[in-house]
Amino acid sequence: MSTGAEEMTAAPGCPVAFPLRKPGRAFPPPEYHDYRAGEGLVRSALPSGPVWLVTRHEDVRAVLTDPRISADPSKPGFPKAGRTGGAPSQDEVPGWFVALDPPEHGRFRKTLIPEFTVRKVREMRPAIQRIVDERIDAMLAAGSRADLIADFALPVPSLVIAGLLGVPRADRDFFEARTRVLVTLSSTDEERDAASKALLRYLGRLIRIKERRPGDDLISRLIAAGTLSLQELSGVSMLLLIAGHETTANNIGLGVVQLLTNPQWIGDNRVVEELLRYYSVADLVAFRVAVEDVEIGGQLIRAGEGIVPLIAAANHDGEVFAAPDGFDPERSARSHVAFGYGVHQCLGQNLVRVEMEIAYRSLFARIPSLELAVPVEELPVKYDGVLFGLHELPVRWK
Ligand code: HEM
Repeated sequence: MSTGAEEMTAAPGCPVAFPLRKPGRAFPPPEYHDYRAGEGLVRSALPSGPVWLVTRHEDVRAVLTDPRISADPSKPGFPKAGRTGGAPSQDEVPGWFVALDPPEHGRFRKTLIPEFTVRKVREMRPAIQRIVDERIDAMLAAGSRADLIADFALPVPSLVIAGLLGVPRADRDFFEARTRVLVTLSSTDEERDAASKALLRYLGRLIRIKERRPGDDLISRLIAAGTLSLQELSGVSMLLLIAGHETTANNIGLGVVQLLTNPQWIGDNRVVEELLRYYSVADLVAFRVAVEDVEIGGQLIRAGEGIVPLIAAANHDGEVFAAPDGFDPERSARSHVAFGYGVHQCLGQNLVRVEMEIAYRSLFARIPSLELAVPVEELPVKYDGVLFGLHELPVRWK
């Protein structure tokens, strides 16, 4: 797979360039192995300043559960992923609860957990199946070639989360384009700000409509529950909308490539968990800062120092996963941290598993002759993104 963007170099005095994902290189970056085998924690620099990269599975879990380590971007020293900008604070987007620490975080989590249980997601299966079938119908009707990202991997989770929230389907292009700005490392502050304000304005208007005319959707249920303010509701909806589609889309796309190149696994649902571990698309998602001095993996991290637990490094730790760089759906991959760990562990994980399972099963059952339309090395990999994935996935069938 090829990438295609300029390299960032290490800041003076910092041995490790960031991000390590670079054009034309394997993912996860081979250095992760060396760092795990060495000190475990290495010093790097983000545009916002120096950070600790954490690579061992055990240490990543420790970072994500230690109360002396915060997920709040308003805390001094919090790392920012892009050249500018970063995760919004509560001042900027009230209700963006992934950026809240306990106990405030718990109020949001408690309100939302019942919407994403295994049982609730099971009830969503027919709606997810309908969306998947519609997209396959549309691809088949359009001919014998498609870009599987634009025509399938992105619209499926996008329509699923929009349907769950009660966001009109017709507005998909609008929110996908704004999300893309927010998950692109090189977006400027102005671009991020404009995208986030446009989304919040849009969701605020939608919420006011639903206050008057409630529907059978999550936003209407949250309004009725009355535990969140109007502003918080907009922030929560924005977080779900953004978290809910591009992550899953990347996993669906990469998974299709993996299955097309290893067809012996087509039809085996165990691939889902292994794909989540293997690709770890959210490698650079869970940023943190120490609010007190804390020791992780034998390394003292001082209060105010930024921390990036590398999800893909943890998920390829040979101490936990035998032959970690191999794709083996028969392994028990359940202890992976693809969805994070601790209080912020992904709220949508049950939904993701069902989306991936239905997407692969339906796609390969209905288009058994599906194949890549370009050599795998030529697939354009996302380099300039918080998330790992493919820009395009040209496929064809007979
Ligand atoms: C393959 C798909 C996905 C991956 C790999 C993924 C990964 C993650 C990770 C690593 C975190 C932890 C962030 C942190 O600790 O700072 C997280 C949190 C979160 N995810 Fe996902 N996610 C996926 C899909 C989804 C979907 C479909 C939804 C929509 C419902 C969603 C909603 C959330 C929310 C709301 C949080 C914040 C939870 C909290 O702070 O309590 N995610 N996700």
